[in-house]
Amino acid sequence: MPSAARDIPNSDNLSRTVSNSFNLSLSTSPVATFNSSSSSLGGHKGTSAKQLKPFITSDIKVLLLENVNKTGQDILARQGYQVEALKSSLSEDELVQKIRDVHVIGIRSKTKLTSKVLHAAKNLIVIGCFCIGTNQVDLKAAAQNGICVFNSPFSNSRSVAELVIAEIIALARQLGDRSNELHNGVWNKVSAGCWEVRGKTLGIIGYGHIGNQLSVLAEAMGMRVVFYDVVNLMSMGTAQQVNSLNALLAGADFVTVHVPELPETQNMIGKEQLEKMRQGSYLINASRGSVVDIPALIEASKSGKIAGAALDVYPNEPGGNGNYFNNEINSWAEDLRALKNIILTPHIGGSTEEAQSAIGVEVAEALVRYVNEGATLGAVNMPEVNLRSLTLDEPNHVRVVYIHKNVPGVLRKVNEILGDHNVDKQMTDSRGEVAYLMADISNVNTSEIKDLYQSLEDLGSRIRTRVLY
Ligand SMILES: NC(=O)c1ccc[n+]([C@@H]2O[C@H](COP(=O)([O-])OP(=O)(O)OC[C@H]3O[C@@H](n4cnc5c(N)ncnc54)[C@H](O)[C@@H]3O)[C@@H](O)[C@H]2O)c1
Repeated sequence: MPSAARDIPNSDNLSRTVSNSFNLSLSTSPVATFNSSSSSLGGHKGTSAKQLKPFITSDIKVLLLENVNKTGQDILARQGYQVEALKSSLSEDELVQKIRDVHVIGIRSKTKLTSKVLHAAKNLIVIGCFCIGTNQVDLKAAAQNGICVFNSPFSNSRSVAELVIAEIIALARQLGDRSNELHNGVWNKVSAGCWEVRGKTLGIIGYGHIGNQLSVLAEAMGMRVVFYDVVNLMSMGTAQQVNSLNALLAGADFVTVHVPELPETQNMIGKEQLEKMRQGSYLINASRGSVVDIPALIEASKSGKIAGAALDVYPNEPGGNGNYFNNEINSWAEDLRALKNIILTPHIGGSTEEAQSAIGVEVAEALVRYVNEGATLGAVNMPEVNLRSLTLDEPNHVRVVYIHKNVPGVLRKVNEILGDHNVDKQMTDSRGEVAYLMADISNVNTSEIKDLYQSLEDLGSRIRTRVLY
């Protein structure tokens, strides 16, 4: 992570004056906060990156809900932010009250950040979803309020790949059935229909983060790997890309699906595709529930076409743990449960201690980078904008972040305001109705910062202005 914050001795934070005047966009006391930046770095010289903070660090209020992993909490606390961590989620009404003076919120999948909550969040600048999905957040309302949203889409790829490896062997050896039988007191020692995986062909549909990891692990077990992807990709090891889904289905003993949920991937594996698979082959889906037509899979399993399947994801999934996997949630659930050699897991592909810890680090670092430097790399609702860090050799530099409506003529007006200074570097990009501009300008006197900020705030296109120095 490029943040220079790590280079700052902790005592630096302690030496700052705690101010209650933190403003989400600019401290009401720019002079005081200006003095706390480079001059507070204890004589660091040379070209090391400069910490950009338009505020007193300890004024930043962070609210973490749903027991966010300790790794993430620690990263935020080390910045000197005020971190309040709760184990549970909060209701909409509780959030509306609690979120008012919070600058950063971290949630997992249960907390709903609705438009109503976001409108009450007057100080909020950034949301961290310490999970994969972001549909619990009204992303559009967040962007329109200048609130950036981060998540962690790939921290659990290895965990999913390892689960799939376990399932390949478990299916080939009918481990689920043997184990269930013995749990019921039945000794059933059989070898018919049980196989080694060495020398068998694994077909991976979607060769992204998970598909890649899986490819390497499968080859290490002596499997041959083929993959199908809409993009031409460099193979791992000796894996081979095939040019059609049908070619993959016809050539694989095990088919595993790792594509995103898209209109094109809805029921991607249905009756027709199951018929194209090899007799006695296996199907694994740990991607999204909409990708496999489960009634068609039930038929293929009953007919013996499919020798086994492992499912981790379903079209409808219960909101909490309990006896919910029945026909009320998915009309075919009980037929599915009754099949032979079917491994059913409750969406646990990415659920490991390692993945949770990695998610904590990835999201917390993205939050710190955004709060301290304005970088939006990896944001899900804003364009990705970043500039190289300012250094300590650049004492009178200011970084301007201007989130604005994506309408004609804004850049001209912004540059008129910035034009009194030397614009060293600038980047701007838009995503839908919202645009994000970041500029580093030099030769800015401390006394000019507030005027600069106010001029940008006064533009009709303004969503949010931040001045970092
Ligand atoms: N079970 C779990 O707990 C769990 C955990 C993490 C991810 N996932 C899911 O796993 C899936 C894959 O995740 P990932 O991180 O590898 O994603 P990724 O974005 O890294 O890779 C997806 C790949 O699929 C390819 N693709 C897209 N559309 C395709 C199509 N129509 N046909 C063939 N290939 C196509 C893309 O080009 C890309 O290479 C996602 O659906 C994700 O939501 C599940």
